[in-house]
Amino acid sequence: MKQRKKPVPRIVAVAGGKGGVGKSTIAANLALAIGRSGHRVVLLDADLGAANLHTMLGVIRPACSLADFFDNRIASLEEARVGVALPTVSLIPGTSRPGAANLSAADKARLIKGIAKLDTDVVILDVGAGTSFNVVDLVAVADIKLFVVTPQLPSLHNAYALMKACVHRVVRKLAPDDLGEAMIDSALGQESKSRTISQLLSVLRPMDEHLTSQIEDQLARFGVGLVGNQLNGDKELGVFHRIATMIHEQLHVHAPVVAAVRRVATLGGGLKAGVGTIADRGEPAHASFRALATTCMAMDLDQLRGLARVQHERTMPLWIQRDFDATGT
Ligand SMILES: Nc1ncnc2c1ncn2[C@@H]1O[C@H](COP(=O)(O)OP(=O)(O)OP(=O)(O)O)[C@@H](O)[C@H]1O
Ligand SMILES: [Mg+2]
Repeated sequence: MKQRKKPVPRIVAVAGGKGGVGKSTIAANLALAIGRSGHRVVLLDADLGAANLHTMLGVIRPACSLADFFDNRIASLEEARVGVALPTVSLIPGTSRPGAANLSAADKARLIKGIAKLDTDVVILDVGAGTSFNVVDLVAVADIKLFVVTPQLPSLHNAYALMKACVHRVVRKLAPDDLGEAMIDSALGQESKSRTISQLLSVLRPMDEHLTSQIEDQLARFGVGLVGNQLNGDKELGVFHRIATMIHEQLHVHAPVVAAVRRVATLGGGLKAGVGTIADRGEPAHASFRALATTCMAMDLDQLRGLARVQHERTMPLWIQRDFDATGT
């Protein structure tokens, strides 16, 4: 009898553009909150070159890591999984060896396929800072894209820059040929005279109705959520809502504020590995992670993957192959 294929796990990327805003802290606490609700979750440290989730979670010398996967010492990502904190949660430690951040296109493709094959309900990717193609591609293939922001201008700027890079990459990949790509490139322009996505759509519509509606469809199910972190009070939330409005106006993407995490001492880091990164059950941050976990699990995967109206057998979705360009350019 033909074996039914395993469903592709729900993939959540935790990004933010800016360093030090709390991406790893949010990723680790979200994994624990999802794990506590009974779902199996794999936390994957994709912050290549600056991996630290293992230290945060008290795994001092991981026996296996992404380096073993890239060097073909292990056949699948499964072999790098190490249990942390709860029976439902495991970690795939990252690598910080020299050159780790410069992933080849083939390794990136293998990593993305490896993630899709993991035997788990949820994969959480800590993608690290910056807007490199590694980061952009891992965010782009995630069903749910969480952008961690703090109420400081550099964090807001960098999160916006990363989101724009992800939107442009995905939109560009929808172009059927060089001409379509050139049309999109010229419509979006350079940084200084960059047009909004809405402007792009109005320029494109008379020329290519099909491409225009494909872009609209893709952006309507982009799966973005803003996670406000290190808040000192609810007043600071206003700035995130304003950013969400701007994102919608400029990038045509719905980016609601899905969590607001207070600055608390227990998340403040410490010298001792595994201490100082996990929210205490008694504090509001703990409740915020629980609520974020519920939100992530409630998001409709079929809708996010564009499969809502199609009867289908769950398999590796086409979007993984289609959205990811193995040349990495
Ligand atoms: N809500 C919070 N309250 C207090 N401290 C926090 C909070 N969130 C994160 N921190 C602290 O801020 C620092 C940076 O956090 P973290 O390492 O998670 O950020 P990051 O975005 O992953 O950084 P990098 O870009 O270097 O990977 C750490 O010391 C962490 O403990
Ligand atoms: Mg980090």
